[in-house]
Amino acid sequence: MTQVLDLLLLRRLLPSLTFIILCLMLLLLIFRSDRMLPPQKYMMQLSDEPAWVQNQTTGTTVLKGQSAHLIRVKGSKTLLVSAFLEHRTKPRKVLVIAIMFRKEKVSLQCSLRCREQLHVSRASVDIHWDHFGFPYGTADVSCPLPPACQAPTHVAVTSAAIRNPDEADLEFLEVQNQKALTVFPYNFTSCFSTMYNYTNILQLVQTVEMLQLLGVNRIVIYKTNCSNETQRVLDYYTDKGLVEVVPWSLSKYLKVSRRAKPDQDPGDIHYFGQIPALNDCLYRFMYRSKYVALHDPDELILPQTVDSWSQLLPLLEKRHGADRCFNFENNWFPTEFTERPPPPNVLPALGHWHNVFGVNILTHLYREPVKPKPVFNNYKIIANPRSVFVVTVHGVLRSQENCAWVDRKTAHMYHTKARGQNGLKAQQLVYDGRLLSYSGRLTAAVNAVLNETRLLPE
Ligand SMILES: *[C@@H]1O[C@H](CO)[C@@H](O)[C@H](O)[C@H]1NC(C)=O
Ligand SMILES: *[C@@H]1O[C@H](CO)[C@@H](O)[C@H](O)[C@H]1NC(C)=O
Ligand SMILES: *[C@@H]1O[C@H](CO)[C@@H](O)[C@H](O)[C@H]1NC(C)=O
Ligand SMILES: *[C@@H]1O[C@H](CO)[C@@H](O)[C@H](O)[C@H]1NC(C)=O
Ligand SMILES: *[C@@H]1O[C@H](CO)[C@@H](O)[C@H](O)[C@H]1NC(C)=O
Ligand SMILES: *[C@@H]1O[C@H](CO)[C@@H](O)[C@H](O)[C@H]1NC(C)=O
Repeated sequence: MTQVLDLLLLRRLLPSLTFIILCLMLLLLIFRSDRMLPPQKYMMQLSDEPAWVQNQTTGTTVLKGQSAHLIRVKGSKTLLVSAFLEHRTKPRKVLVIAIMFRKEKVSLQCSLRCREQLHVSRASVDIHWDHFGFPYGTADVSCPLPPACQAPTHVAVTSAAIRNPDEADLEFLEVQNQKALTVFPYNFTSCFSTMYNYTNILQLVQTVEMLQLLGVNRIVIYKTNCSNETQRVLDYYTDKGLVEVVPWSLSKYLKVSRRAKPDQDPGDIHYFGQIPALNDCLYRFMYRSKYVALHDPDELILPQTVDSWSQLLPLLEKRHGADRCFNFENNWFPTEFTERPPPPNVLPALGHWHNVFGVNILTHLYREPVKPKPVFNNYKIIANPRSVFVVTVHGVLRSQENCAWVDRKTAHMYHTKARGQNGLKAQQLVYDGRLLSYSGRLTAAVNAVLNETRLLPE
């Protein structure tokens, strides 16, 4: 009796059993196609440098800037900057930010590490179009995720011409952004790309203090080199937990140009490799900061109707919609002009600051006249980083929605630097004293920092 029942049951189950067996075979096939490699000893390049450092004296935890760990791909001119899990594409993938020789025809493959196993997949390459005519450009190297490896912790990229790369030769990047977090430790992060031969201490301290008044909690600085005094200031802010210095030593690998175009200063890559640095910053802070601002230390985006970025962004989102990026119009404040005497509350500081090297932004309140639109004007952005895929020097190359232009009466950028010959006469410049509404708080804050870093005369 039971045997008959069993048989009946079997007959009824047979079609579904066949289906399950077919599925299993299909899965096996897929597994084989991503060619499992034997386990190998754990390599973690990035963790030679401890990321979080506890300062025993102050008790604060400090994130020492993790070096952007440049890796050269064997058998190719490609350089790898950093790797991230990209949660927003369907299907998800690993994005490796890279620097590629544009003329080189190379196909790349990814070795993705999941637990103790390696899974190989064929990479696709997209070189960003904003290479400005230099031989090298920033590139997205995309690694598809094999079904058996959906959350790799590390990735190595090799030339596909090397069929079976020697395991011991593989150099791994840590895959960052493992989780698509929705709560962020920072509200605003500013990324300063490529600090080179930097000596402008007074303007740096003023900008960093202004940014804090505006609501910024994190500043990332991609640094090639600077004066010893600047380094003292950077160390001070790093110990405070505000600044993260990312050593940026691309010049060890490539001849970096110091200018924006090859005819101004020929080289392998645009302006110290600023563009890969900016893209690295965007992805590093995608799930650590509510907003990311991309600008230089001589640029300040100032709201005109409210006091801070914390108040400005809700306004902009109400007007233009949430989850996007905002372009802020540039205004030049040439340091060659100091017309009107500074107000009394700034005057006492000027005596003290006389011996501190660099530009004092509080004394440059005249801007060049605004050019009629539409004109490219070196604008900069504040973005919800999760709405952006690719950034460039000025603005965004690819995002979920186009960036919104912010009306200059709501906010615009103050770019204080030497302009050299610009053909303008002093009387053509326009007074703009917006910065002075911060001068009391700013002066006190700057004095405190200069004093603590022993940059003020006794
Ligand atoms: C800890 O912080 C103090 C005060 O900012 C600083 O002088 C000291 O160098 C820091 N120590 C380390 C190990 O960073
Ligand atoms: C971020 O902004 C919110 C709302 O303005 C504020 O309550 C919070 O303290 C800010 N966080 C930091 C780290 O400044
Ligand atoms: C570094 O900057 C100083 C002025 O601050 C300048 O005189 C010098 O030529 C610069 N050096 C390089 C290598 O750019
Ligand atoms: C930065 O590096 C350049 C090239 O090595 C050098 O000429 C310059 O003096 C350095 N700048 C500072 C401020 O150390
Ligand atoms: C800067 O610091 C380095 C290392 O601390 C030192 O070797 C060098 O002489 C300093 N340079 C100047 C100009 O003081
Ligand atoms: C400068 O710092 C010292 C201690 O380091 C302090 O006694 C002094 O009051 C400070 N001066 C100013 C102007 O902040």
